[in-house]
Amino acid sequence: MEGMNMRTIIVVFVILVLEGYCWERGVSTTVTYDHKALVIDGKRRILQSGSIHYPRATPDMWPSIISKAKEGGLDVIESYVFWNNHEPVRGQYYFEDRFDLVRFVKTVEEAGLYVHLRIGPYVCAEWNYGGFPVWLHFLPGIQFRTSNEIFKSEMKRFLEKVVNLMKNENLFASQGGPIILAQVENEYGNVEGSYGDGGKQYVKWAAETAVSLNTTVPWVMCSQRDAPDPIINTCNGFYCDGFTANTPSKPAMWTENYPGWFLAFGYPIPYRPVEDLAFAVARFYEKGGTFQNYYMYFGGTNFGRTAGGPLTATSYDYDAPLDEYGFIRQPKWGHLRDLHMAIKHCEDYLVEADPSSVSLGMNLEAHVYYKTSNDCAAFLANYDSKVDSNVTFKGISYFLPAWSVSILPDCKNVVFNTAKVVSQKTLDVSFTHNTFTSESSLASSAWDWYKENVGVWGSNSFVASGLLEQINTTKDTSDFLWYTTSIHVDEKIEQDQNKEVALSISSLGHAALVFVNKRPVGFGYGNHDDASFVLKTKISLNPGNNTLDVLSMMIGMKNYGSWFDIQGAGVNSVVLTGSKNGKENLSATKWTYQVGLEGESLGLYKTKLQNSSLWRRGNATPTNQSLIWYKATFLAPSGKDPVSVDLSSMGKGQAWVNGQSIGRYWPAYHSRSTGCTDNCDYRGSYNAWKCLKKCGQPTQTMYHIPRPWLNDGENVLVLHEEIGGDPSKISFVTRTGQEICASLSESDLPPSDTWKPKVGFTSEVPLVRLTCDQGWHIASIRFASFGTPKGDCGAFIPGTCHANVASIFQQACVGKQGCSVPISAANLGDPCPGVVKSVAVQALCSVGDITLNYH
Ligand SMILES: *[C@@H]1O[C@H](CO)[C@@H](O)[C@H](O)[C@H]1NC(C)=O
Ligand SMILES: *[C@@H]1O[C@H](CO)[C@@H](O)[C@H](O)[C@H]1NC(C)=O
Ligand SMILES: *[C@@H]1O[C@H](CO)[C@@H](O)[C@H](O)[C@H]1NC(C)=O
Ligand SMILES: *[C@@H]1O[C@H](CO)[C@@H](O)[C@H](O)[C@H]1NC(C)=O
Ligand SMILES: *[C@@H]1O[C@H](CO)[C@@H](O)[C@H](O)[C@H]1NC(C)=O
Ligand SMILES: *[C@@H]1O[C@H](CO)[C@@H](O)[C@H](O)[C@H]1NC(C)=O
Ligand SMILES: *[C@@H]1O[C@H](CO)[C@@H](O)[C@H](O)[C@H]1NC(C)=O
Repeated sequence: MEGMNMRTIIVVFVILVLEGYCWERGVSTTVTYDHKALVIDGKRRILQSGSIHYPRATPDMWPSIISKAKEGGLDVIESYVFWNNHEPVRGQYYFEDRFDLVRFVKTVEEAGLYVHLRIGPYVCAEWNYGGFPVWLHFLPGIQFRTSNEIFKSEMKRFLEKVVNLMKNENLFASQGGPIILAQVENEYGNVEGSYGDGGKQYVKWAAETAVSLNTTVPWVMCSQRDAPDPIINTCNGFYCDGFTANTPSKPAMWTENYPGWFLAFGYPIPYRPVEDLAFAVARFYEKGGTFQNYYMYFGGTNFGRTAGGPLTATSYDYDAPLDEYGFIRQPKWGHLRDLHMAIKHCEDYLVEADPSSVSLGMNLEAHVYYKTSNDCAAFLANYDSKVDSNVTFKGISYFLPAWSVSILPDCKNVVFNTAKVVSQKTLDVSFTHNTFTSESSLASSAWDWYKENVGVWGSNSFVASGLLEQINTTKDTSDFLWYTTSIHVDEKIEQDQNKEVALSISSLGHAALVFVNKRPVGFGYGNHDDASFVLKTKISLNPGNNTLDVLSMMIGMKNYGSWFDIQGAGVNSVVLTGSKNGKENLSATKWTYQVGLEGESLGLYKTKLQNSSLWRRGNATPTNQSLIWYKATFLAPSGKDPVSVDLSSMGKGQAWVNGQSIGRYWPAYHSRSTGCTDNCDYRGSYNAWKCLKKCGQPTQTMYHIPRPWLNDGENVLVLHEEIGGDPSKISFVTRTGQEICASLSESDLPPSDTWKPKVGFTSEVPLVRLTCDQGWHIASIRFASFGTPKGDCGAFIPGTCHANVASIFQQACVGKQGCSVPISAANLGDPCPGVVKSVAVQALCSVGDITLNYH
């Protein structure tokens, strides 16, 4: 950014949340809408919203995540409602712990924010089966998401259940609660065509049903062009500035704006540069939008078997402004906060009228919101993906970098440009081993183990002719289904011949381990985009009887697409070639089936079996073997911060801590080796494949263990390893320090005119601001130069002009959560008069007493 000659006021938000935007709890509020915006108590509002899914964090994390969202400038928290976990058995409801929806909504209320409740009950969400309970699939005659009486009656019953739960707790706005908006169905417009007439009727029915529930707040349907009145159809996408609602009486609302993308096992990690995300948001408000939601603002973790799929990873980080652990991700969080504040400063103008657009040249335009003919706010946009430009607007020249928007709350002064990131950065955004983590690991002798049975293990196995579809067979009570049969080889014929035979197994998905005579002979798997696969391997058969055991695995039930609910999984063809009769098709033969693993049935993951004699004691702990259960006790890293377990030495499986599943792991699945860059060009249209990192590496090695699941003393870790790993290299990590950086130029001085900043802004001189995460403080200043410093965060070096200003920052910052230092020669001295100087500063944030180690 150095050398960018932009007339930019560096805005510093002294009051992070502007007063007057908090609503009063317990006071009845009316929520309606007009063509422009949501109207709350008669006032049109400009709102920023963010998705936080309550079960993807633990309840103890909710208050701090929500308060960081509020500090980041959000007004609304959005969540889906997860039917399958709320009604695991038909008629038996569960609203406890991570699924305590009432507590979550009340936590948002306590923070003074609004709620958008997207009930669905289809939610997609990369959540198992899109949020549908699996039992729904087995109601005779049911067809999902179409005009089917059985489906509609179940869906209506659950919608009523949730609406009544909220009403009984007075959580709707008219009752004095925080809920201002609700959603029925989800992105149905994307698939409606596949459901023919039934689909059209279903949309009408869903709308009528929602309205009949009398929530007293508006309903939305996202990606639903034909949403019937009064339901507002809303936009989902990376950009929504071209969006208009389906009637002129509805506002333009954006329900899913992706700050990154979800992660699937076997794929590189997607990320989205904040300059582009901010550009998308600014363009939306520039062209008349009034409500926008980040999907996700905090992504969190797919604990247990909640991940959808197929093959959705356990981390649902999403490159969101708050990372998987709830830490602030910079500069994303800070740049968006600055953007939200700039947009809030235009609120009075944005709600007043529709913008008038003015062309400023090729791929250059302004949108102006007038209150009166000489009182306005403006957005200046350069949507060219390559060429920077100078534009003239109302007689003044402005520099507009390519793919950027400048915001002028008074039609004159630029308070924010989407491409100019002045927010602080963080050096170690990922939760990996480094100087600032404390870790503990376990000796190999610490591990007890249990060898899982290969093939049928229980009296509840059964025989069927042919290959059964997996979901219909397991009802998703387990990821696993054993398909076993025997292959008889005629001794007389085979004895002298080469006994190598080709085995070909096809599967609808998602993975399978194959054993011949109880020895592993192959492992096959699909991927998120196509979970089907064919596993071909050479096997040797003994004369006489041979066993064939196939362990078919599911890795998250499908959650998206037309008729996704009836797309099957499991083995669908088994063929041998080269055996005595040439080809032998085993697909239609008799197979014995066993649902689940013996260890699951024994409950090996439960702490109550911790001292069971089932477990074999340490010493010769087997490594690199398939189907082994491991158990060890460990002491958690001290402190209160989140803990992560590094499973990079393991293959594929599931892990439990003190009986709680922390999710599926699969570090052995590496992503493709090419197509990644750490410095993705933010300019030009973004898509989920544009900016990827960690090519050729495991998709996920670090797995979140929430603090409340850990004891102060001993904890039990149990792993079920499916394909082979080495548990002795497992370690536990917590973050104890983090480097933060800020840099700012003197040329970022405010213009010398009369514009006076409004509440929340100071613009006397630029301020360098450093802030640690909540509960952390600045422990030391690692680098601070005023002059012409070079390099970037983590690698700053002094330039030819250099004043070491570390002591000034030390005095202002050390021991505090945050601090700001004015950039001026008066304050910092002047090492080279006449030269445009800047400040670069790097500091260490630290938690608790560990600070002392770094002084
Ligand atoms: C809807 O709810 C409101 C507020 O609880 C109530 O006053 C109104 O009578 C209800 N309307 C209908 C049609 O039930
Ligand atoms: C914009 O104007 C500045 C100041 O006149 C000039 O230095 C710069 O080169 C111009 N940039 C472009 C892209 O025209
Ligand atoms: C082969 O072994 C299986 C499993 O032990 C048994 O069920 C089957 O009857 C045997 N077949 C023959 C031909 O011996
Ligand atoms: C599951 O069973 C039902 C009922 O027999 C059948 O209609 C459906 O096609 C089966 N699903 C799959 C994926 O095979
Ligand atoms: C094997 O048999 C099944 C069921 O009888 C049949 O659907 C499939 O096409 C056969 N496969 C081959 C390769 O012959
Ligand atoms: C297992 O044994 C350890 C050590 O003796 C003990 O602390 C722990 O409470 C026991 N756990 C159970 C579930 O019995
Ligand atoms: C693990 O076992 C597989 C097959 O049994 C073998 O190919 C591989 O080299 C082994 N890996 C290690 C690290 O021992």
